[in-house]
Amino acid sequence: MEKEKAMYNVVMRTPECLVIDDFLPEEAQDKILNQVQVDEWEQTQGDDKFWHYTDGANYKNQKRWQGKYPYGDNCDVWFEHFNKFLNEYEHIGDYVEGGKFEDYAMRCHAYPVNSKNPWHSDLGFTTYTYYVHKDWQINWDSTLLIVPMGSVPEYSQWIELMEGTKHYDSYKELRSPMEMFQQKEKFQSLIDKGVGTFVSPKPNRLVLIQKNSVHGITRVDPDAGDNIRVTLTGAIGEVGWRDRVTRLADAEIKEDGKVGIKK
Ligand SMILES: [Fe+2]
Repeated sequence: MEKEKAMYNVVMRTPECLVIDDFLPEEAQDKILNQVQVDEWEQTQGDDKFWHYTDGANYKNQKRWQGKYPYGDNCDVWFEHFNKFLNEYEHIGDYVEGGKFEDYAMRCHAYPVNSKNPWHSDLGFTTYTYYVHKDWQINWDSTLLIVPMGSVPEYSQWIELMEGTKHYDSYKELRSPMEMFQQKEKFQSLIDKGVGTFVSPKPNRLVLIQKNSVHGITRVDPDAGDNIRVTLTGAIGEVGWRDRVTRLADAEIKEDGKVGIKK
């Protein structure tokens, strides 16, 4: 007998992104939210190049990997539901090449008022975002913006190192030097295009952002007061991704959950 497939409340499906509302049963969302509040949190450090010094503070908990699941805590609830989705959703192959994942990460990001995540793409991976906060109003903003696939030149933050430049920061392990101050030229094509899709951080909503799509998150508006935008996020590596993203083909997950290159 054919296995019964779960139904998903798909509210948008484009080449750039997939949006599913009411993704988790409320009890599952509550368990995850309960767990992450007693996780280990830190402020994102200044050498994480996905943020700029002008973006405001943001915070994150420890990173968990699907490959190491189960952890024996309530974040297992996420892996259980998200694995089921990745394995069963009928159009997953449109976003995860070949339709089969090898591994993915799970980490919360928390944005208080005035914080944002500037325009970027995610190093060649499809990523997901799940809004785990319980309440959000449209004017609190912190909206995900995405330009249409292929409408701007290929975007990456990698820079060439000049002779004599030594790489010291946290991307050294991955042999991936990332630009920090010189992004004016790359951002120019985005303002030249200047149109695209918006997705609001509606509670219990899942978003898949297509690999190589360029996207950004606007600031949490002061109207949000002491409400924090809290997400579960991660990159999804499909089976065989090492042949596609050759720059990171030798990457491995270390004991502490960080990613490095095999020596
Ligand atoms: Fe991203």
